Amino acid sequence: MSLKCAVELGIPDAVHSNGGKPVSLCELANKLSIPSTRIDDLRRLMRLLVHSGFFTSQKIEKGVGDGKRDVELFLPTINSSLLLKENDVSVSPFVLAMLDRIFALPWHSLGEWFRQSMVPTAFEIAHGDHLWGVTNKNASFSDSFNEGMASDASLVGKLVARVCANTFSGLRSVVDVGGGTGTMARNNCKSPSTGGDMFEYIPSADAVLLKWILHDWSDEDCVKILKRCKDAVPPKEKGGKIIIIDIVMSRETEHFKSKETQLFFDILMMVVTSGKQRNEKEWNKLFTDAGYKEYKILNALGLRSVIEVYY
Ligand SMILES: C[S@@+](CC[C@H](N)C(=O)[O-])C[C@H]1O[C@@H](n2cnc3c(N)ncnc32)[C@H](O)[C@@H]1O
Repeated sequence: MSLKCAVELGIPDAVHSNGGKPVSLCELANKLSIPSTRIDDLRRLMRLLVHSGFFTSQKIEKGVGDGKRDVELFLPTINSSLLLKENDVSVSPFVLAMLDRIFALPWHSLGEWFRQSMVPTAFEIAHGDHLWGVTNKNASFSDSFNEGMASDASLVGKLVARVCANTFSGLRSVVDVGGGTGTMARNNCKSPSTGGDMFEYIPSADAVLLKWILHDWSDEDCVKILKRCKDAVPPKEKGGKIIIIDIVMSRETEHFKSKETQLFFDILMMVVTSGKQRNEKEWNKLFTDAGYKEYKILNALGLRSVIEVYY
């Protein structure tokens, strides 16, 4: 929530747009039109953002004699550069979408959800409908969600193009199932995303892309979706494949922060959907149950992986 507040206030842009010079609290407050009565509160917010790695700070001594005092100055980091509004790969829309009130409210129903078994998700206890029902009915939430996903797709698309270029090479057509605004398909394979219900029909193509789709669904639903995908693409020897971009839960020994973020995303899926994050064994079972023979996991995107699946 503090990060959402920082994005809403425009703190990353204000710190970055200081001509490469560190910015003091007073300068920051001025740039952001924050009244002087809130400067100490701004200092507390910045202290957390520095601790979390979004900025660095340094203290310099100003004044002379009895008027000497320490002034704290703030500098950007690579993390804050990912939040700049005008940056090609800004994930600010993703931060705003994921921390929207509509996503925040169901967390208060998680305890209640554990004690009963009738309502599928805490999201439905809070909103009386599932996530996709609410996105259909609430245009501003839907816009924010789609913009958030598009910003993530833009970042991931660039990474995939750099580190997994072979995944898309040679494909004449790719269907981006549940592709939202279609950012990933447009950028990585010059193909359109597809609308329509993926449980009903997926158009034919050399490959089907499922980015952040399967983690939204139960194992049974994933097997249904994967079977529909199988109907849509040719076998491996004819160049067909399914490309999944999703989390493969890592072992306990992995980097602490990455593991922690994967665990948070797993609980997020529990709160807002009937899905989950899966480890390799669980992915393997889905692929086998849906009739696939082979898969390859490319752990190239940090938290997430690219999985190519063939039959
Ligand atoms: C987590 S978002 C991922 C969007 C996009 N693939 C991305 O990663 O940027 C899940 C998407 O699945 C779509 N979706 C939900 N139910 C669907 C269905 N039955 N058929 C097709 N798409 C669906 C949603 O509208 C949403 O755009």
